[in-house]
Amino acid sequence: MRKRLGILLSGRGSNFEAIARNVASGKLDCEVGFVFSNKPNAPGLKRARELGLTCGAMESAGQDRAAFDGQVARLLHEQGVDLVCLAGYMRLLSGHFIQQFPGRILNIHPSLLPAFPGLDAQYQALAHGVKVTGCTVHFVDEQLDSGPILLQTAVPVLDSDTLEELSARILAQEHKIYSEAISWVLKGNYRIEGRRVIET
Ligand code: GAR
Repeated sequence: MRKRLGILLSGRGSNFEAIARNVASGKLDCEVGFVFSNKPNAPGLKRARELGLTCGAMESAGQDRAAFDGQVARLLHEQGVDLVCLAGYMRLLSGHFIQQFPGRILNIHPSLLPAFPGLDAQYQALAHGVKVTGCTVHFVDEQLDSGPILLQTAVPVLDSDTLEELSARILAQEHKIYSEAISWVLKGNYRIEGRRVIET
């Protein structure tokens, strides 16, 4: 049976769309089983509905984190999700949520972690004056933008870069490596040694 992805997003959803495109074209051998947003008006959620995918949404603002995450986990279980992919899900997950999907939650972040975790990673890179930045796909643990790293791609920071130009250059790479990392995890040919994810 094809593995089912659960995609969690809070905004634009371009990483979700890239994944959905690769699923539709057969490049990614799985299905998008469920798309959830903690922002009911997220453009990415609207797009998921247009694509006819099963969706859910609950506003997270003002909610107790553990209770909210408990409801989200229940929805993911109900939809038979095998792998949870955070795609611009701008919310820290509770430990209990993470424990319910051991080694089965991925995140994408727009920097070469451990540099520039948290919000506005592309702005942080520009402000710091680095010459190279990039993106990272990693397993999710209980710390922010932490967890063993699956894939990274570097992109140059040009002297002339605006925030928008740098973000777009990184995003183009995000759209590639997220599907590659998902494919790798679904194949299961890796082992985790400490923080290292090693191909087997
Ligand atoms: C992406 O750049 C993603 O890496 C970032 O949010 C953006 C979402 O874009 N995630 C984080 O910063 C997580 N810490 P998208 O909604 O178009 O996929």
